[in-house]
Amino acid sequence: MIEEHMPMVVTITKVLYETPTIKTIVFDELFNSRPGQFCMVWVPGVDEIPMAFSAANAITVMRVGDATAALSTLKEGDKIGIRGPFGNGFFTTGKVLAIGGGIGVTPLFTLATNGGIDTFLFGARTAKELVFADELSDVTDLRIATDDGTMGHHGFVTDILDQIDATEYDTICTCGPEMMMKGILDRLVVKGIESRGQFSLHRYMKCGVGVCGSCCMDYEGLRVCRDGPVFTGDILKNSEFANYYRDSSGRKE
Ligand SMILES: Cc1cc2nc3c(=O)[nH]c(=O)nc-3n(C[C@H](O)[C@H](O)[C@H](O)COP(=O)(O)OP(=O)(O)OC[C@H]3O[C@@H](n4cnc5c(N)ncnc54)[C@H](O)[C@@H]3O)c2cc1C
Ligand code: FES
Repeated sequence: MIEEHMPMVVTITKVLYETPTIKTIVFDELFNSRPGQFCMVWVPGVDEIPMAFSAANAITVMRVGDATAALSTLKEGDKIGIRGPFGNGFFTTGKVLAIGGGIGVTPLFTLATNGGIDTFLFGARTAKELVFADELSDVTDLRIATDDGTMGHHGFVTDILDQIDATEYDTICTCGPEMMMKGILDRLVVKGIESRGQFSLHRYMKCGVGVCGSCCMDYEGLRVCRDGPVFTGDILKNSEFANYYRDSSGRKE
C-alpha cells in the first residue's frame, strides 16, 4: 500500500487500442487491488481522476473530457501518477450475475478474470464499444445487448435482465451509467432482492480518500470514495442515486 496522499510515479510500458474511444494503459508497477477498487490517476499538468484497475498494472480509459483525452494521447515511456487502491470493491458469494454498461465493464472484467462471475450481461451503444467482449466470453456465459443492434440483443441490457430469473443469483454486481443501474435496482426491488445487488458508482471525486466531501451522497452523507464505490441496493434505494449527481463545485445536476 502506498502513501494515500502522494501518487506513485509510474512509467507507461504499453498502450493498447481497444475501441475508437477506449485505450488500455499498461505501466511498470503492480498494484494489489480487489475487483471494484479504484485508484486516483494523476495526469501531469491536467487533473487527477478516479479509475478502476483493469489489471494489477493497467487502467482502461474512455475519452470523455480533458483528463481522459490527455490520458488517451500518452505513449510508451510517458509518466503518470497512481494513488491507491482505494474503496471497498465487490464482495461476492454463491452464484454471481454481472451487468455492465459501456466503460463500466472494467471493474467487472477483473472480477470475471478471477473466475468470479457465472453470467455476464453486457450492454454498449454499438458493437465497436464492446471492450473486453472476447476475453469475457472465454470465462463467463456472456450475453450482449447493443443500442443500435450491431451485436446481440437490439436494445438495452435491462431487456436481457428481464429474460432471466435474477432470483437464481446470490450476488448481482453492476457498473455502468447511473440510469442503467437505476433500471436494475428497480427490477431487484420488485423481486425483493435489492440487498443482493452491488452497484459500483462513477461519481465526481477530488481527493479519493474521504476528506474533501466532493463525492458525498444524500441522504446519509455517504462518501462514494471511502464508503463505496460499491453500495448495495438497499442502501441506494434511499439515497440521491439516479435522482441527481454533483458537478466539480458540488452543485446538484
Ligand atoms: C470509482 C470510479 C471508477 C472509474 N473507473 C473508470 C474507468 O475504469 N475507466 C474510465 O474511463 N472512467 C472511469 N471512471 C470515470 C472517470 O473518472 C471520468 O470519466 C473522468 O473523471 C472524467 O474526467 P475528464 O476530465 O476526462 O472529463 P470531465 O471534463 O471531468 O467530464 C466530461 C464528462 O464526463 C462526465 N464525468 C465527469 N466525471 C465523471 C465521473 N466520475 N463519472 C462519470 N462521468 C463523469 C461529466 O459529467 C462530463 O459530461 C471512474 C469513476 C469512478 C468514480
Ligand atoms: S473524493 Fe473527497 S471525499 Fe470523496
